[in-house]
Amino acid sequence: MNVLLLGSGGREHALAWKLAQSPSLTKLYAAPGNPGIAEEAECVSLDVTDHSAVVGFCRDHAIGLVVIGPEAPLVDGLADSLRAADIPAFGPSKAAAQLEGSKGFTKDLCARAGIPTGGYVRTHSLEEATAALGKFTAPYVLKADGLAAGKGVVIAATDAEAEEALADMFGGQFGEAGAQVVIEEFLAGEEASFFALTDGKSVVPFGTAQDHKQVGEGDVGPNTGGMGAYSPAPVLTPELQARALAEIIQPTVDTMAAEGMPYSGVLYAGLMLTATGPQLIEYNCRFGDPECQVLMMRYQGDLAALMMACAKGKLAGAEADFADKTALTVVMAAKGYPGTPEKGGEIDLGAAAAGGAKVFHAGTKGSEDGGLVANGGRVLNVTAMGGNVTEAQRSAYEALDKVDFPSGFCRRDIGWKEVAREGE
Ligand code: AMP
Ligand code: GLY
Repeated sequence: MNVLLLGSGGREHALAWKLAQSPSLTKLYAAPGNPGIAEEAECVSLDVTDHSAVVGFCRDHAIGLVVIGPEAPLVDGLADSLRAADIPAFGPSKAAAQLEGSKGFTKDLCARAGIPTGGYVRTHSLEEATAALGKFTAPYVLKADGLAAGKGVVIAATDAEAEEALADMFGGQFGEAGAQVVIEEFLAGEEASFFALTDGKSVVPFGTAQDHKQVGEGDVGPNTGGMGAYSPAPVLTPELQARALAEIIQPTVDTMAAEGMPYSGVLYAGLMLTATGPQLIEYNCRFGDPECQVLMMRYQGDLAALMMACAKGKLAGAEADFADKTALTVVMAAKGYPGTPEKGGEIDLGAAAAGGAKVFHAGTKGSEDGGLVANGGRVLNVTAMGGNVTEAQRSAYEALDKVDFPSGFCRRDIGWKEVAREGE
């Protein structure tokens, strides 16, 4: 089977690497890809907003499955256009992708299905939102309804901060995404991510992970797309995973199907582990980045075949086989990130991959002299395995220290919460 993978980040490099190892794969294409993906796939240029161009490429190259990496083409309905042309796609329809594309949609669905999540109000104007603040207590959680590249959430400590953030959101800070704002109850606890594959009916758990969203060590400073992750997340005990599946994931899949919007693809649940059990913070309709990198390090099956089963509605009875080890990834970002990152910094990967580590490319490009330079905020994901988080962390930083990237930086404490628990 020929597969077309869409996307250009570290998540897609990890998917490309695993798809290339799939016995059921004949040829892998990627659009647009990156220099790391180019080691696994033939990279082509395609405008993913031009659905007929993507369909045409698939017909011309006998593509049997399209794997859609990022959320934007999913929310834009690319999977629907492919399915309408009889081309199997891994990823939800436009209607189902609302689980990520509209925070208010997901909150309403949770309310209808009795899924545990924080109380909320959907607001449509600054006046309405400011008045609604009175129903909550600080810290206030304010969310632009639509896609905002992971930046649309503000946790405001005071009334004044909340009012200022609301004025910015309704003032156009996030464009259309901020035309509606969800205000929700603050949930206290530890966060963890739970992944499941579903074909609209059957659900196959696909691992757990913990991300590090803030730019600074000890989880301080502005939010990023994620500075590092590890999998599995021991805080999500088998008992809590069973609860998340029964109380959150399965009712979501069932309700979406019952309401005529069957969800197919990967469902990524951001959970808060509260005193009363797991509660839903948010859904994403794609793999996490960099959580995907650690899941792919551990996944041992035929990924192309599993994704195809998902796309074809044949997931019943499938299982996902993961190595019984911990994978940990550290993001190397360009200085300036998550603000304006320095572009063009030279990178020498040296012998980082010796010893079994894997360096996924997130934002790189080839330079004129055949070298590698930074081309984005998050640039590299240095990923390694170990018997537990402490060991995986040691191996990942050993590999990372072999990389020469003077205009880059990273957090040195990825995994710190779990390393502390393992040391107890
Ligand atoms: P989101 O983009 O929805 O994942 O939100 C970004 C981050 O904001 C989350 O990873 C949490 O750390 C935090 N957050 C979002 N919603 C809540 C909530 N209701 N209570 C506490 N923290 C939250
Ligand atoms: N790493 C968080 C995300 O992919 O949304």
